[in-house]
Amino acid sequence: MRQVAECVGTLIDAGGVPAHAPIALVARNRPCAVAALLGLIFRSHTVRMIHPFQSAAAMAGSVERLQPAAVVGSPEDFAPEVREVLRRRGVAAIAITDMDATSVSGLEHCECGAIPIPERPRIEILTSGTTGPPKQFAVGFELIERHHVGVQLLTPGTGADALELPPMPLFFPLGNISGIYSTLPTLLRGRRAALWERFSVSAWHDHVVRYRPELTGLPPAGVQMVLDANIPREDLASIRLLSTGAAPLDPGVQRAFEERYGIPILLSYGATEFAGPVAAMTADLHAEWGKRKFGSVGRALPGAKLRVIDPDTGVVLPAGQEGLLEVISPRIGPDWIRTADVAIIDADGFLFHRGRADGAILRGGFKLLPETIERALVSHPAVSAAAVVGIPDSRLGEVPAAAIQLAPAAAPPTVQELEAHLREQILATHIPVAWCLVRQLPRNHSLKTDRVAVRRLFEIPEEVVVHLQGRTHRLEYHRGDTLLETMRRAGLATPSMCEQGVCGTCMARRIQGEVDLRENHVLSEKDLTEGYTLACQGVPSSKVCEIEIDV
Ligand code: FES
Repeated sequence: MRQVAECVGTLIDAGGVPAHAPIALVARNRPCAVAALLGLIFRSHTVRMIHPFQSAAAMAGSVERLQPAAVVGSPEDFAPEVREVLRRRGVAAIAITDMDATSVSGLEHCECGAIPIPERPRIEILTSGTTGPPKQFAVGFELIERHHVGVQLLTPGTGADALELPPMPLFFPLGNISGIYSTLPTLLRGRRAALWERFSVSAWHDHVVRYRPELTGLPPAGVQMVLDANIPREDLASIRLLSTGAAPLDPGVQRAFEERYGIPILLSYGATEFAGPVAAMTADLHAEWGKRKFGSVGRALPGAKLRVIDPDTGVVLPAGQEGLLEVISPRIGPDWIRTADVAIIDADGFLFHRGRADGAILRGGFKLLPETIERALVSHPAVSAAAVVGIPDSRLGEVPAAAIQLAPAAAPPTVQELEAHLREQILATHIPVAWCLVRQLPRNHSLKTDRVAVRRLFEIPEEVVVHLQGRTHRLEYHRGDTLLETMRRAGLATPSMCEQGVCGTCMARRIQGEVDLRENHVLSEKDLTEGYTLACQGVPSSKVCEIEIDV
């Protein structure tokens, strides 16, 4: 790690990059990227995070917008489009690999002239982008030092010899606050870490079986994934407490997990805008209050303040009443920050998160919170996860639409069954008017539901046009089906092998429209930009869809 960090520093100096100038880092969860980050912090450079999972064109756009003096990334991040922007702007480029760093040929020097250097060094992190593209948010080094280094929340019990502890699993994206918040304190305390490019249940399962941690964490979506994987209870027997945060956890999922494994889940609440968590159910609070505060994200952390206001009048509401949450984060300053979160604070000061006001669906005169409908849906035994979004309606303005991820091995329920189940729990106005069964809900890299992609599930073509062996076929399309399923339904034979997005046998080319890929382990960014897609994993997500298959 030191070798990579020092090598990056040497290349920055050799490239004529001004001291403390902003450097963009393509934030992949790889040891070399973590090493580069530590090196840049050591040299007091402002670090501007670039989201790694985007097309080359989007990455080129990020570089253009961020105006760094240099970009540090993996070799695959320097596609021709990106190099072109770097060349035009005179930005130096450094490629990091396993345990080495080299200048990118032709981009060794910084020739971008005078660039504004922030007064104090900071990390410009990415928001998680659940409602649109990730945005930049600046967190000063001194703030990280004051509030993140030494905080015990995510790594409780680290007063012991850090090397004795099981490695800390690091799965939150390095470019996000959760990634910074879990990575830096872990390393600075000298604790071992297991760095995963993406969270996976099997990696987490192996980790728990191998290291037998007493305290560990999962992303909220991971809790359901563990349940779905039906991991044996004895494999998790070492875990005493499990923490989660970064997104709300459905109470039904929490209850199912706690009952299945007998492991209490500690929730927390925070946001990039507060530079980390502001409330948490700590181990001590859980020991004292236990099940009485089930579903709560805990009390305000030291220095933080919470209150709930009436969204229309701004009046502070008494304990137990639902309204909009306002927060004072000691990391940000003394002012109240208005959130878009609907919440309740009870008489004992415990915070209960109810949903997002900005995701509210306005159906005629009614305001519906998607989370209310989602909670009711996941209490159905066949539903593993659900996402509800508003879709346009000419009469009512907006109506709810639900995407359902089935529990493993569950028989798909009919729409009538789901509606009857919902009617027992929620008002008739909340019943979705459109449904979509999916194998997996679209999630972003932080494993939060990608609501933009969910909304796209309801933007579907009536037919898919397929050009195959010189003939054109117009196929009826059923919501949620892949291109391959659509062709099979119409009796159209097309090649496929793995049907897992691995082999590329089912490759097709988009001629018109958008296609979301559920899994892709074979197509490169370049292939995707050129319009290639996979029939076995591609789900149409626009009003038109036309593809061509070369056999
Ligand atoms: S059949 Fe292998 S990627 Fe589609």
